[in-house]
Amino acid sequence: MAVEQALEQGVEQVVETRNMVKRYGDMVAVDNASLTVRSGEIFGLLGPNGAGKTTAIKVLLGLLSPDSGEVELFGERFRGDELSLKARMGVVPQHLAILEDLSAEENLRFFGRLYGVRGELLSRRVGEALDFVGLSERRRELPKKFSGGMKRRLNIAAALVHQPELLIMDEPTVGIDPQSRNHILESVRALREGGMTIVYTSHYMEEVSSICDRIVILDHGRVIASGSEEELVRFVEREERISLSLNRVFPAVVEELEKMPGVVQCEQNEREIVLMAGANQLRLSRLIEQVSAHGCEVLSANVERPTLESVFLTLTGRSLRD
Ligand SMILES: Nc1ncnc2c1ncn2[C@@H]1O[C@H](COP(=O)(O)OP(=O)(O)OP(=O)(O)O)[C@@H](O)[C@H]1O
Ligand SMILES: [Mg+2]
Repeated sequence: MAVEQALEQGVEQVVETRNMVKRYGDMVAVDNASLTVRSGEIFGLLGPNGAGKTTAIKVLLGLLSPDSGEVELFGERFRGDELSLKARMGVVPQHLAILEDLSAEENLRFFGRLYGVRGELLSRRVGEALDFVGLSERRRELPKKFSGGMKRRLNIAAALVHQPELLIMDEPTVGIDPQSRNHILESVRALREGGMTIVYTSHYMEEVSSICDRIVILDHGRVIASGSEEELVRFVEREERISLSLNRVFPAVVEELEKMPGVVQCEQNEREIVLMAGANQLRLSRLIEQVSAHGCEVLSANVERPTLESVFLTLTGRSLRD
């Protein structure tokens, strides 16, 4: 198993970049990025369009050489052409890389052979990869007849035939149906359970939040924050927004709520009350008690906690979705 192997060799860091810089002409696409990916984790690279995610990944894959900085893979210095290190990685590129005129199965055989997998082992691995992405029954069909989601899944299978220890996925769920998207997210989790290390790039905060163990937020090529989601959210310390919808509201209720410990702000909007409060400082049951004491009834309550989006907003003043 990949993790055990790595730990035996004393390698806990599968990827380590130090001060990686990559320019296109005058434009700095990756700006002094130091990244550490640990063995067995799903590492999220989150950033808006043009943040430098694909460029960073291309350097890790040896497809681009950095202008300065160092890259280590599996504990060894990587200069971009060490085949022994490249063979331990798999990639699901942002833009599909499958051959439309070969069947699903022939595609996987092709990619497997590129990595030197042959004979019976190749047949077995191709079967397993098709099974894993749920395409066994369509193995003999041409991908040009597939939906976008199925093509993506085939592309993922193609990256798995040689059983990489490190899988790099560049926005693998963009533009596909929700069912395929869920299938892909589940597959990524399953791969981690099997011991694989995964680098997952996305500009979807929800995705990164649901599957990644640790996250780096990139903006204009720079690492602006890194840590687990919990750590990142704690870092911005933004308040919770609690909205209560009531059957009726008296001014005294608003005054009372305003005075509760932890409440930073309290606003009334017809029969809705919106409270801003320090994270985890208010209990909903206490709020409901207060409101009921005035003869009002809570019809519904909604609590919004700070998210990765708030982290990005706090640090850049812009929305991740721009
Ligand atoms: N081959 C290239 N030549 C010149 N500029 C490039 C090239 N590739 C990317 N860029 C620029 O480098 C910056 C980073 O691009 P990159 O593709 O790495 O970002 P990204 O985070 O992957 O974005 P997206 O979410 O759109 O895929 C962008 O400003 C982009 O326009
Ligand atoms: Mg990209």
